[in-house]
Amino acid sequence: MTETLVAAARRAQQQAYAPYSRYQVGAALEAEDGQIYTGCNMENASFGLTICAERTAVATAVTAGARRFRRIAIVVGSEPPAMPCGACRQVLAEFGLDLPGESVGPSTRVSWNLRDLLPGAFGPGNLA
Ligand code: THU
Repeated sequence: MTETLVAAARRAQQQAYAPYSRYQVGAALEAEDGQIYTGCNMENASFGLTICAERTAVATAVTAGARRFRRIAIVVGSEPPAMPCGACRQVLAEFGLDLPGESVGPSTRVSWNLRDLLPGAFGPGNLA
């Protein structure tokens, strides 16, 4: 994973709005053209309305017109570094299962590919 992408995710993590869980997450998504789109988690007093960092990053990217992505970096404060939740896996999969990712914790990193995190994925192809 490029250090530029990890640094962007780290900066996004600083913006996390997580007064309830205190669990801050940052995500950085690199588009095909090299542009980087970031997101942080955003909690709500109505807990179920919380949005994860990964989905915030996807929304930011799509709003800017980007739909094809090269890789994603996620920064968390726990060990082992957390993988994207199920909802975020599905939302990322909408734009391609071939997405290398890295989860970065305070002392270790885990590399993964979205395809392996969502076997048998339901996707746009199912609606064709
Ligand atoms: N969270 C993320 O931002 N990404 C994930 O993949 C898992 C969980 C956030 C949601 C919530 O604000 C906090 O972490 C605790 O669940």
